[in-house]
Amino acid sequence: MTPIVEGRRLTRTFPMPSGLVTALREASIEISQGDYVAITGPSGCGKSTLLHLLGCVDSPTSGSLLFEGHDAARLTESARSRIRLTRVGFIFQRFFLLPMLDAWENVELPQAEIGIVPRQREERTRELLEYVGLSDRAHHRPAQLSGGEMQRVAIARALANRPALLLADEPTGELDEDTGEQIADLFDRVHADGTAIVVVTHNPLLARRARRHLTMKRGTVEAGEATAATAAAHAAPGTPVTVASAIGPDASSGPEDQDTDETAEQDAVDGVAVSAAARTGDTPPRPVTRQQRVTGGAQRRPGARKKRR
Ligand SMILES: Nc1ncnc2c1ncn2[C@@H]1O[C@H](COP(=O)(O)OP(=O)(O)OP(=O)(O)O)[C@@H](O)[C@H]1O
Ligand SMILES: [Mg+2]
Repeated sequence: MTPIVEGRRLTRTFPMPSGLVTALREASIEISQGDYVAITGPSGCGKSTLLHLLGCVDSPTSGSLLFEGHDAARLTESARSRIRLTRVGFIFQRFFLLPMLDAWENVELPQAEIGIVPRQREERTRELLEYVGLSDRAHHRPAQLSGGEMQRVAIARALANRPALLLADEPTGELDEDTGEQIADLFDRVHADGTAIVVVTHNPLLARRARRHLTMKRGTVEAGEATAATAAAHAAPGTPVTVASAIGPDASSGPEDQDTDETAEQDAVDGVAVSAAARTGDTPPRPVTRQQRVTGGAQRRPGARKKRR
């Protein structure tokens, strides 16, 4: 099966007045459907830079990046934007919700960006807020939410257009340990529902939840290893793949400009980087659980919008 994203020998340099900064040097990585990857490494080793490349927010200086089999370097900006909006969901340490919009509106925005009609937006927004346990906070603005609640809204927003891949950069960095665990639980559900996850984290509790652990060092990705969670899943083959894919893939497309780190985050603020799918080809149909209907799960056929339960 074609990987969701495949980066080969990715190098990213930034020319600065003081000299060339090499953020990534020949880093290679492959993320497939069903993956849940934690990336750790010291500050400045290139983790965020790598996430931005994987999400088609930024482009490598050299090396190749294939997103669902398409060479990102050959895509128009419009196609790249479409990927960011529909195939990828972004989550950041500082949430980046739009402060003047309430939780409901923040989740609805990326759907509006890709032209989902109001009735479907309403249905999906309701489902997503329920999924993250915030139905009773729908009309709170970010300033009226706790940190953990803001991150849950950000997760709902990231899932809004049923991306195939969730990219999270230090999602528990602003949260206390218990709240971080709640976010980790939510990631487990999202993963179980069929959305691949790549999470950059300094939080060992979160990293342990992933199925694969990659370490970065000075711009390169070191060999990965399976985590204890993987061993546990193998030991219990009946592991439920149920919880809630409020996320899964869907497709539509449209491209946009290419940004660097800060603009990546700004895109999310604008509701642009949050999701969007390029109505891609077929994803093999699989039985869809109740929650997978919510998130869309990776199994979801592009364009096949869920029916009201
Ligand atoms: N837009 C940019 N312009 C210039 N240098 C940059 C840019 N973005 C990143 N860098 C540099 O590239 C290196 C890697 O940065 P990156 O943000 O990817 O690190 P990180 O591993 O995410 O670190 P942290 O754990 O502190 O978030 C750093 O030395 C940083 O200063
Ligand atoms: Mg970083």
